[in-house]
Amino acid sequence: MPISAAESRTEALRLYENLHKLGWEMPDCELIAPTTLEINRLKKEQEAVILAHSYQTPDIMYGIGDYIGDSYSLSRAAMEHPAKKIIFCSVYFMGETAKLLNPDKQVLVPRVAGCSLADAITGEQVRNLRKKYPHAGIVCYVNTYAEVKAESDTCCTSSNVVDVVEAMPQEDIVFIPDELMGQNLRNMTSKNIITWHGTCVVHEGFNPDTVRDIRKRFPDVKILAHPECAPAVVALVDYAGGTSGMLNYVRNSDAKTFMLVTECGLTDRFRAEFREKEIVGTCILCPYMKEIQLEDVLRAFKDPAPEQYVEIPLDIAERARTSLHKMFELEQKGKKLRERGVVSMLS
Ligand code: 13P
Ligand code: SF4
Repeated sequence: MPISAAESRTEALRLYENLHKLGWEMPDCELIAPTTLEINRLKKEQEAVILAHSYQTPDIMYGIGDYIGDSYSLSRAAMEHPAKKIIFCSVYFMGETAKLLNPDKQVLVPRVAGCSLADAITGEQVRNLRKKYPHAGIVCYVNTYAEVKAESDTCCTSSNVVDVVEAMPQEDIVFIPDELMGQNLRNMTSKNIITWHGTCVVHEGFNPDTVRDIRKRFPDVKILAHPECAPAVVALVDYAGGTSGMLNYVRNSDAKTFMLVTECGLTDRFRAEFREKEIVGTCILCPYMKEIQLEDVLRAFKDPAPEQYVEIPLDIAERARTSLHKMFELEQKGKKLRERGVVSMLS
């Protein structure tokens, strides 16, 4: 059905309402309005849901996203949603996680986008680590592909990593693939952490001097960092935690000024959603997350390319799903240990 000028105008106004706080002007909104309108129509017709990771661009988050969040909360949201089709606007491994948790739904990604962490380790390398450290438990971060999850004992996210690691029965833990998060875990858990050499190209880019400089310039600032940052950075901040932890911290804080030591999409979200708060300092763009464009989403609806469908071989999917379910079990166990004061917290 062709889009009328009046429909396009109404859509541009809706976009402007959501995006002007982030510097978008009316002509920018008018330019993308026909595309967001078409995507939102197709979404309804095809009974689909669009998940937008917090590191996506504002046009995707606020123009077409039904849910905005971190990888974990989005996959869980998809489990509860009745949609038959999931379009996951994010990097490929997150599409895989959504497929593992929603095996009966069709899952598509706009682009097969990588991630410097997920690309840092293969299933075969995990098998070799198991041979090298037969007594250790293997915990993989969620930023890994299904074949890596399948070879690990459990997986974890930035929001439950401490609880999961503490709840593992072994004292020695091989933590893959994020070396910096592994180093942070040495300071935050009682376990002997063996690391791998992966890093996040975004979070490894922050250095302690930037944090010190912001604190000097804004003495009342609260500084929040992702645990993928180096320990020297994490040591200087008021809170270290994943995307949802940062959101909760800002939501519940009386402070007015914040610095987010993380990806720029999250800075955009905070500027759009906490209008009374001021976000200072710099952020870093994730080149993988930013590959995704509205046109790629449109293609996933109208004429999907074979690679846009997320498919995981059955044997790998079964073992990777076991690793994810183990995570749910261990996070509960770890949470109870923490509530009893047996383990520390990430902040
Ligand atoms: P979340 O698990 O918080 O969504 O983060 C994913 C990520 O890529 C962090 O850099
Ligand atoms: Fe991967 Fe880092 Fe980008 Fe997250 S921000 S998707 S960890 S490269």
